[in-house]
Amino acid sequence: MHVDVKNTQQFQSVSDIHALIAEDMQAVNALISRSLHSDVVLIGQLSNYIINSGGKRLRPVLVLLAAQAYTYQGSQHVNIAAIIEFIHTATLLHDDVVDASELRRGNDTANAIWGNEASVLVGDFLYSRAFQMMVELSDMRIMEILANATNTIAEGEVMQLMNVNEPDTTEKQYLDVIYCKTAKLFEAGCQLGALVAQQDDQQLFNMAEYGKYLGTAFQLIDDVIDYTQSANETGKNIGDDLAEGKPTLPLIHAMQHGQPEQVKIIREAIEQGGRDRMDEIQQIIESTGSIAYTAELARSEAVKARKAIADLPESIYKSALYALTDIAVERSF
Ligand code: IPE
Ligand code: IPE
Ligand code: MG
Ligand code: MG
Repeated sequence: MHVDVKNTQQFQSVSDIHALIAEDMQAVNALISRSLHSDVVLIGQLSNYIINSGGKRLRPVLVLLAAQAYTYQGSQHVNIAAIIEFIHTATLLHDDVVDASELRRGNDTANAIWGNEASVLVGDFLYSRAFQMMVELSDMRIMEILANATNTIAEGEVMQLMNVNEPDTTEKQYLDVIYCKTAKLFEAGCQLGALVAQQDDQQLFNMAEYGKYLGTAFQLIDDVIDYTQSANETGKNIGDDLAEGKPTLPLIHAMQHGQPEQVKIIREAIEQGGRDRMDEIQQIIESTGSIAYTAELARSEAVKARKAIADLPESIYKSALYALTDIAVERSF
């Protein structure tokens, strides 16, 4: 690919960015494959299935770009990228069990094929393998950031569980959940890119902020597309959030701005879960401007992400980081 430092337009999708860091990404994928090894057959089957099923590898991309943006010359960014993808994949295995999801990345979920028990246990395998890989780096600061992020994700998922079927969940509670369950790992990945490149605390902070805002924007859009896109586009079943009675921002906003009759429908849908009233709810969240509101909030988070790294020296990697803030909010998958 021809790369032009000034032109961010050249990155229209995550795959364009993959092309920029193809060599590093190959190293990440090779390390991922090697690290999946287990003598237990089911672990190999299930973990290979999920890890090779076509995820965007967005979190590894962030680690690699952040490190490259500081012209890092070593190889620790590759290890960290693989570790973070393992942590992400473990959360997905557990999340699909908790959310009773049946489709991911355009395929049956692991729980749909092998059952909930196997998914939970192989998720544990991936988490603990990630920790083995971290220990190999023998760096307390890396361990600290990753251990904290993993713990925060678990807190986020439990907080979210407490909000299920709870129509009085506030926007603030929702935002706390998405920071913990999603943005925190983006934050950690970006911060670690700066850390391995031996940047000072200010740079670490800036990169962490970028990741936090990008991750928040990313989850806001995920919560939009759960109502607006088809499974063909997202690779996941539409309406999973509603089915579970999950109070995401489109619903929370609609309850604040809808007519009493509309509010009643949404409250009941959250309390009871299920997909029965999906069509009606899609119409309500459109007509109350709640989809637009959520997408607009994602856009403003993306702006904050760009501002956080404004001081970063100009480079093609910085352009890619900027481009990701657009891709995260324009995406339909
Ligand atoms: C899915 O993340 C979970 C969320 C935080 C919304 P991704 O959309 O990055 O999942 P894959 O890895 O590309 O499938
Ligand atoms: C993100 O939340 C889950 C994690 C961060 C583990 P969702 O439940 O919305 O993710 P999807 O939609 O299943 O990918
Ligand atoms: Mg889910
Ligand atoms: Mg979702």
